[in-house]
Amino acid sequence: MKNKLWGGRFGKRTDPAFEQFSSSFRWDRRLLPYDLKIDAAHVKALRKCGVLTAGEAGKLLSAIARLVERSENGHLRLDGNSEDIHSAIQSELEKLAGPLADKLHTARSRNDLVSQSMRLYGKEHAAKIESLIGRLQKEIVLKAEETQGVLVPGMTHLQNAQVVSQAHIFLAYVEMLDRAKRRLQAAAPFFDVCVLGSGALAGVTFNLDQRLLARELGLSAIASNSYDVSGDRDFALNALSAAVFTGLQLSRIAEDLMVGQARGAALFDLDEAFCTGSSMMPQKKNADFVELARGACGVFMGNFLGLAATLKGLPTSYNRDLQWDKKYLFDSVENCEALLGIFIRVFETLKVNGKRAKALLADESLYATDLADYLVRKGVPFKSAHQQVGRIVSFAEEKGCPISKIGLDLLKSFAPRIGGDVYELFDAEHSVRLKKTVGSTHPAEVRKQIKRWKVSLRGA
Ligand code: ARG
Repeated sequence: MKNKLWGGRFGKRTDPAFEQFSSSFRWDRRLLPYDLKIDAAHVKALRKCGVLTAGEAGKLLSAIARLVERSENGHLRLDGNSEDIHSAIQSELEKLAGPLADKLHTARSRNDLVSQSMRLYGKEHAAKIESLIGRLQKEIVLKAEETQGVLVPGMTHLQNAQVVSQAHIFLAYVEMLDRAKRRLQAAAPFFDVCVLGSGALAGVTFNLDQRLLARELGLSAIASNSYDVSGDRDFALNALSAAVFTGLQLSRIAEDLMVGQARGAALFDLDEAFCTGSSMMPQKKNADFVELARGACGVFMGNFLGLAATLKGLPTSYNRDLQWDKKYLFDSVENCEALLGIFIRVFETLKVNGKRAKALLADESLYATDLADYLVRKGVPFKSAHQQVGRIVSFAEEKGCPISKIGLDLLKSFAPRIGGDVYELFDAEHSVRLKKTVGSTHPAEVRKQIKRWKVSLRGA
């Protein structure tokens, strides 16, 4: 039991199957750079409170620096059979610094160590994900700028509804992603806390300078309750919920891309680099990335729920159940980063087919709402206007004839207030120009929104 951080009271070997099952190394090896950073800060704090002499601190710091260097250039081979990353680092330090390494774990527990390390990981990766969302937004804004003139059938219930510009739809994605980004920003302060000095649950008996530790680690707050720290995984749950928000938005965007690239619409052409073929049907070009992206949200939801279920009803302070947090957090973070990175290139290479957009606009029911509003302007109450236009639409559908091809007299028989000027309504450009409100699909409004986003995403 000598290689264990806790072996003293144990006479028997750990059951090998249990030992393997209980190891978190397969997940927490990712914490290596953060643990090493914490170790260096901890040595400084131990020196300051007199646990280490200056010479000892110097030796430990240079051993840690060697591990950092070896880990950065890929030469650090950690023992894969370690119980966790903390034990693995301890063994490496023992190789470099001998018995002196045994002093490092003074005034700390793996409970505060693992919580701190996860928070440093979370802080760095939350910033990375935030920046990826920003870059994706920027790419979509550029696509919106390119497609301001492309008018398409806007849909609700996947049914043609009203004409909008493709740019207007793309800008909706930018808004959606912004809400996910804000959710992530709201989660970020929970990472930004120094929890060292909490020990196992009660605090430690040495004068660890927690301000020094926070400064060394670039953290802005110090935890106010060591007992809380011991069992708190809300920071991870918050991050997982931000991943759910991001995944939800991406899944909806993915579904739009799926519908738009399907044969029936053929409005979008997704770059081949993000598609795969069929092993049997030679003609296939399947939008696999977009489908995987649509499905990924299930993974994020599962991870959120997994940790929430682990936390529910758990006694306060540390329990080993908490170790599962890593499986969930790393999985969501890594998939979220990968997904966003690929999405950026999908939008960069996405082609929108203007000709197909025009063909899709042949459905003149898209102007039914404009027609009802036209009647309102001629003095008809909206409810009656709605009914009259409903009858016109159903008549046109029955006859298989566009509304604009129905003669004025016949139109008047459905809606007596209709005049000769009605025919100018059946034009997509005209339809979008009729919209007057802030945030509408009016070209000037869309232009304004693009400009606003370009300014606010300048640094992304
Ligand atoms: N691998 C453990 C975890 O991730 C480290 C903390 C162990 N603490 C303990 N009291 N056994 O939670």
